[in-house]
Amino acid sequence: MSENQIPVTARASNIEYAIRDVVVPATALEAQGHEILKLNIGDPIAYPGLPTPEHMVDAYVNALKDGRNGYSHSYGLPELRDAIAEDEHNKGWNATADDVYICHGVTEALQIIFAATLSQGDIVLAPGPHYPPYMAYPQGYGAETVEYRLKPDDGWKIDFDDIESKMNESVRLLVIINPNNPCGNVATEDEVDRLLSIASKWPNCMVIADEIYDGLDFTGHQVSVASRSKKVPVFSLNGVSKVYYAPGWRIGYMAIHDPTGRMNLVRDGIERMLRSRLCASTPAQLGYLAGLTSDRTWMKGYRQKVIAQRDLCLDRIDAIDGLEVQSPGGAFYMFVKLTDERWAQDDKQFVLDLLHQEHVLVVHGSGFSANLGKGHFRIVYLPSVEILNEAFDRIGRFLQNNR
Ligand SMILES: Cc1ncc(COP(=O)(O)O)c(C=O)c1O
Repeated sequence: MSENQIPVTARASNIEYAIRDVVVPATALEAQGHEILKLNIGDPIAYPGLPTPEHMVDAYVNALKDGRNGYSHSYGLPELRDAIAEDEHNKGWNATADDVYICHGVTEALQIIFAATLSQGDIVLAPGPHYPPYMAYPQGYGAETVEYRLKPDDGWKIDFDDIESKMNESVRLLVIINPNNPCGNVATEDEVDRLLSIASKWPNCMVIADEIYDGLDFTGHQVSVASRSKKVPVFSLNGVSKVYYAPGWRIGYMAIHDPTGRMNLVRDGIERMLRSRLCASTPAQLGYLAGLTSDRTWMKGYRQKVIAQRDLCLDRIDAIDGLEVQSPGGAFYMFVKLTDERWAQDDKQFVLDLLHQEHVLVVHGSGFSANLGKGHFRIVYLPSVEILNEAFDRIGRFLQNNR
């Protein structure tokens, strides 16, 4: 490699994405012929028993065969926007198709929201720990992500005093991920109301409600944030990736709830950005449409499988010296505490040593928050029961051997 490298921007080189960064050493081990037990990636399709429902796949395939291979409208196919508006309406607020914008996943929706709302010196107030893009992207617009605390010993509930102490004029976006990745916490209606009441004191603050795991709420208490907001502008984010088991299709949406009509300029900026990047995949939108407009009883079986695997992992973790966990109320992650002092101080080393010694891949907690996630690791509990049991045997052995 030449020494005269062409410079890269800080906005790109500062990006870290822990979930995929740990895949690099794992791939190197695989290249040497080792088999890795992977509990790292939040992709249900990477694990057995949770395939994309057939009627959705058929709709996608039929769209291809029927020649629906052109660009769609930049804001999304009208019939899909209608179906999503109806779905959001059923979650309790007066969404219309015009409020819905289809993106290449929630991830693209986030990029567009950040680009349209953040300037130099602005703040995104996001939960800690959090899904990494909430930290990675805002800095690209000169903004900064500040974390509010989720309580590690109290089910990862939101620490409202911490939010209140961090609110100021610069906070443009207050984020709630509900159910949460990586902790699995589900906020109750009262908690959502409390968050909105804090945001309502700051006129330029909008709420991002990332509800991509809302169909994987095991508490029965999950509510749509937009449905509770009478004043505060809310971006509701959701999509096909998690609850409809098709993350590779890259389809998600933002739905804008603007109860007091203050988002016209932001909306115009968002629409301009959407038009400039043409559109989301047309056949994939039709696949999602089939999911939204068909019977959803199949979801029950999927949820039951996920809950059974959660319970298995809770039992296994409970029996391993050196691990503790708060039972997650939703999504398919556990954020496990390392109680041995050595690993509590260096969760990344734990992940790397576990990978090299036992060939089990998990993600270090500090990758989800340097301060509030350290001393933890995240697992996805979707692998088969056999793999999960084998992984916990190995994790237990690793902790014993490295004490
Ligand atoms: C909280 C959260 N939001 C968004 C995403 C990504 O969504 P999409 O696949 O729609 O880009 C994930 C994926 O893991 C996530 O955990």
